[in-house]
Amino acid sequence: MNSDSSSSLIIDEQIFSHLPVLPQEVIAGLAVSAGGHYLDTTVGGGGHSRLILQTAPDVQLTAIDQDEDALAAAKKELAEFGDRVKFIQSNFAAYPFPDATFNGILADLGVSSYQLDTPERGFSFRHTASLDMRMNQQASLTAADVINEWEEAELADIFFKYGEERLSRRIARRIVERRPFDTTTELAEAIASAVPPKYRYGRIHPATRAFQALRIVVNDELKSLETFLAKAPNALVPGGRIAVISFHSLEDRLVKHGLRNSPLLRVLTKKPITAQESEIAHNPRSRSAKLRIAERVN
Ligand SMILES: C[S@@+](CC[C@H](N)C(=O)[O-])C[C@H]1O[C@@H](n2cnc3c(N)ncnc32)[C@H](O)[C@@H]1O
Repeated sequence: MNSDSSSSLIIDEQIFSHLPVLPQEVIAGLAVSAGGHYLDTTVGGGGHSRLILQTAPDVQLTAIDQDEDALAAAKKELAEFGDRVKFIQSNFAAYPFPDATFNGILADLGVSSYQLDTPERGFSFRHTASLDMRMNQQASLTAADVINEWEEAELADIFFKYGEERLSRRIARRIVERRPFDTTTELAEAIASAVPPKYRYGRIHPATRAFQALRIVVNDELKSLETFLAKAPNALVPGGRIAVISFHSLEDRLVKHGLRNSPLLRVLTKKPITAQESEIAHNPRSRSAKLRIAERVN
């Protein structure tokens, strides 16, 4: 079994932290230096962006997020840096990457603690909320649309493919029997009722994988990542670095191959960089983070 297929899917729905993951590793990996212009394609709460901006007084940053609330929060968080930061609301896949512009590009994938902790966004089954899960509030497809309208076979397929859920068929069957669903908690309970007791009381909640699959589908996350990996390298200056942090094996596989297959890049991380025990102890979200870095060679 290669390292890709053996890497497990670990999602921490319970414990969130507002701290940026792998902070020193990202700053060192991007080789952030005075006078540089950096692109943070997932500014979120602004944690990594702040670290980049603090490295030197003349560092410039372009900050992207597709979530208007995240962008508003990041604007506040980074207000002290004034016009050194430019904010853009966009999916990173849709961003018109300018040629040879940035000294470093960062993507810290997935949802932010802010999104998970805001019940009405519908990302978490720990709060009762409508089934939404859109990172971009203007997007039309919601988790409710998928759950209530898609065919049973399609649901089973996405749970299997994007959640790596072994019990995808019986979960899909139970959902179709009991739908329509309005809320996250109703859905999570139906999923829990579809699985054997052993599974129900396991290390993670039985709905975790199905919720991850739904989130990936609603936000078209893997397609966006592939587009990003194809377009971003050309926006680096020669010698510029790209750093990508992923949180599950489906993403990490795309990152690994995307960086390796780019004719513009040389991969600097043979194996992904992971968090030290000391970081995991104070930031549990870092436990599943994998950082890969590459440098533009031509
Ligand atoms: C894990 S958080 C980033 C946290 C940030 N690095 C920090 O230190 O605060 C991921 C953020 O990326 C955004 N995001 C995820 N996929 C995106 C995409 N395809 N385009 C733009 N933003 C995206 C999410 O809305 C979320 O705010």
